[in-house]
Amino acid sequence: MKIAIGADHGGYQLKAEVKQMLEGQGHELIDVGSFSADSVDYPDYAQPVCQKVVSGEVDKGILICGTGIGMCIAANKIPQIRCALVHDVFSAKATREHNDSNVLAMGARVIGAGLALEIVKTWVGTEFSGDQRHRQRIGKITALEETQALHP
Ligand code: RB5
Repeated sequence: MKIAIGADHGGYQLKAEVKQMLEGQGHELIDVGSFSADSVDYPDYAQPVCQKVVSGEVDKGILICGTGIGMCIAANKIPQIRCALVHDVFSAKATREHNDSNVLAMGARVIGAGLALEIVKTWVGTEFSGDQRHRQRIGKITALEETQALHP
Protein backbone atom coordinates (compact mmCIF):
# COMPACT_ATOMS: atom_id res chain seq x y z
CA MET A 1 0.00 0.00 0.00
CA LYS A 2 1.11 3.58 -0.67
CA ILE A 3 0.75 5.82 2.39
CA ALA A 4 1.46 9.53 2.93
CA ILE A 5 2.54 10.51 6.43
CA GLY A 6 2.98 13.86 8.13
CA ALA A 7 3.53 15.29 11.59
CA ASP A 8 4.28 18.49 13.43
CA HIS A 9 6.99 18.96 16.06
CA GLY A 10 4.78 17.12 18.57
CA GLY A 11 4.65 14.02 16.39
CA TYR A 12 7.78 13.79 14.28
CA GLN A 13 9.48 11.17 16.49
CA LEU A 14 6.47 8.87 16.48
CA LYS A 15 6.17 9.45 12.73
CA ALA A 16 9.67 8.04 12.26
CA GLU A 17 8.71 4.89 14.20
CA VAL A 18 5.46 4.44 12.29
CA LYS A 19 7.26 4.93 9.00
CA GLN A 20 9.97 2.39 9.89
CA MET A 21 7.38 -0.20 10.87
CA LEU A 22 5.25 0.26 7.75
CA GLU A 23 8.26 0.19 5.42
CA GLY A 24 9.36 -2.99 7.18
CA GLN A 25 5.97 -4.47 6.28
CA GLY A 26 6.56 -3.59 2.62
CA HIS A 27 4.45 -0.45 2.37
CA GLU A 28 5.62 2.57 0.37
CA LEU A 29 5.70 5.76 2.44
CA ILE A 30 5.73 9.39 1.30
CA ASP A 31 6.91 11.53 4.22
CA VAL A 32 5.92 15.21 3.95
CA GLY A 33 7.70 16.19 7.22
CA SER A 34 8.28 17.66 9.67
CA PHE A 35 11.64 16.27 10.71
CA SER A 36 12.63 18.11 13.90
CA ALA A 37 11.44 19.56 17.20
CA ASP A 38 11.29 23.05 15.63
CA SER A 39 7.81 24.49 16.08
CA VAL A 40 5.63 24.25 12.97
CA ASP A 41 1.90 24.55 12.14
CA TYR A 42 0.07 21.22 11.82
CA PRO A 43 -2.30 22.32 8.98
CA ASP A 44 0.78 22.73 6.78
CA TYR A 45 1.32 18.97 7.05
CA ALA A 46 -2.32 17.86 7.06
CA GLN A 47 -2.87 19.59 3.70
CA PRO A 48 -0.23 17.78 1.58
CA VAL A 49 -1.05 14.38 3.09
CA CYS A 50 -4.77 14.82 2.41
CA GLN A 51 -4.14 16.24 -1.06
CA LYS A 52 -2.27 13.06 -1.96
CA VAL A 53 -5.15 10.93 -0.67
CA VAL A 54 -7.77 12.90 -2.61
CA SER A 55 -5.74 12.88 -5.83
CA GLY A 56 -5.21 9.13 -5.58
CA GLU A 57 -1.42 9.45 -5.42
CA VAL A 58 -1.59 7.40 -2.21
CA ASP A 59 -4.10 4.94 -0.78
CA LYS A 60 -4.19 6.35 2.75
CA GLY A 61 -2.77 9.08 5.00
CA ILE A 62 -1.45 9.18 8.55
CA LEU A 63 -1.17 12.40 10.58
CA ILE A 64 0.47 12.85 13.98
CA CYS A 65 0.60 15.88 16.26
CA GLY A 66 0.66 16.31 20.02
CA THR A 67 -2.97 15.39 20.57
CA GLY A 68 -4.01 14.37 17.04
CA ILE A 69 -6.90 16.81 17.39
CA GLY A 70 -5.53 19.69 15.33
CA MET A 71 -4.51 17.36 12.51
CA CYS A 72 -7.92 15.70 12.56
CA ILE A 73 -9.83 18.99 12.48
CA ALA A 74 -7.67 20.32 9.63
CA ALA A 75 -7.92 17.10 7.60
CA ASN A 76 -11.70 16.91 7.87
CA LYS A 77 -12.04 20.39 6.32
CA ILE A 78 -10.86 18.87 3.05
CA PRO A 79 -13.63 17.38 0.86
CA GLN A 80 -13.44 13.58 0.44
CA ILE A 81 -11.31 13.19 3.56
CA ARG A 82 -12.66 11.07 6.39
CA CYS A 83 -10.05 11.42 9.10
CA ALA A 84 -10.41 9.42 12.32
CA LEU A 85 -8.67 10.38 15.56
CA VAL A 86 -7.81 7.03 17.11
CA HIS A 87 -6.17 6.11 20.40
CA ASP A 88 -7.31 2.50 20.80
CA VAL A 89 -7.19 -0.65 18.67
CA PHE A 90 -10.97 -1.25 18.73
CA SER A 91 -11.65 2.14 17.15
CA ALA A 92 -8.89 1.60 14.58
CA LYS A 93 -10.71 -1.51 13.32
CA ALA A 94 -14.19 -0.01 13.62
CA THR A 95 -13.39 3.19 11.74
CA ARG A 96 -12.05 1.26 8.77
CA GLU A 97 -14.99 -1.18 8.74
CA HIS A 98 -17.74 1.38 9.35
CA ASN A 99 -16.48 4.82 8.24
CA ASP A 100 -14.01 3.76 5.54
CA SER A 101 -11.68 6.39 7.03
CA ASN A 102 -8.95 7.30 4.58
CA VAL A 103 -6.76 9.25 7.03
CA LEU A 104 -5.67 8.26 10.54
CA ALA A 105 -4.78 10.89 13.17
CA MET A 106 -2.99 10.14 16.43
CA GLY A 107 -1.59 12.16 19.32
CA ALA A 108 2.00 11.40 20.24
CA ARG A 109 1.52 13.08 23.62
CA VAL A 110 -1.54 10.94 24.35
CA ILE A 111 -0.41 7.38 23.67
CA GLY A 112 2.92 5.55 23.66
CA ALA A 113 4.67 4.23 20.58
CA GLY A 114 3.75 0.61 21.35
CA LEU A 115 0.01 1.28 21.23
CA ALA A 116 0.37 3.67 18.29
CA LEU A 117 2.09 0.99 16.20
CA GLU A 118 -0.66 -1.54 17.03
CA ILE A 119 -3.28 1.03 16.02
CA VAL A 120 -1.51 1.69 12.71
CA LYS A 121 -1.14 -2.05 11.97
CA THR A 122 -4.83 -2.60 12.65
CA TRP A 123 -6.02 0.46 10.72
CA VAL A 124 -3.87 -0.27 7.67
CA GLY A 125 -4.78 -3.96 7.76
CA THR A 126 -8.55 -3.60 8.05
CA GLU A 127 -10.83 -3.37 5.00
CA PHE A 128 -14.05 -1.36 4.74
CA SER A 129 -16.95 -3.77 5.35
CA GLY A 130 -18.82 -2.45 2.29
CA ASP A 131 -22.15 -2.97 4.08
CA GLN A 132 -25.04 -1.01 2.57
CA ARG A 133 -25.89 0.70 5.87
CA HIS A 134 -22.34 2.01 6.16
CA ARG A 135 -22.30 3.11 2.50
CA GLN A 136 -25.54 5.00 3.10
CA ARG A 137 -24.13 6.80 6.15
CA ILE A 138 -20.89 7.69 4.36
CA GLY A 139 -23.00 9.01 1.48
CA LYS A 140 -24.74 11.30 3.95
CA ILE A 141 -21.37 12.54 5.22
CA THR A 142 -20.36 13.29 1.63
CA ALA A 143 -23.63 15.19 1.15
CA LEU A 144 -22.65 17.44 4.06
CA GLU A 145 -19.69 18.60 1.97
CA GLU A 146 -22.08 20.15 -0.51
CA THR A 147 -23.42 23.67 0.05
CA GLN A 148 -27.01 22.51 -0.48
CA ALA A 149 -26.74 20.28 2.57
CA LEU A 150 -25.96 23.29 4.72
CA HIS A 151 -28.59 25.56 3.11
CA PRO A 152 -31.54 23.34 2.14
C1 RB5 B 1 1.55 21.78 19.28
O1 RB5 B 1 2.02 22.34 20.44
C2 RB5 B 1 0.19 21.16 19.51
O2 RB5 B 1 -0.76 22.16 19.67
C3 RB5 B 1 -0.17 20.26 18.37
O3 RB5 B 1 0.80 19.26 18.24
C4 RB5 B 1 -1.50 19.53 18.48
O4 RB5 B 1 -1.62 18.91 19.71
C5 RB5 B 1 -2.69 20.31 18.13
O5 RB5 B 1 -3.81 19.83 18.11
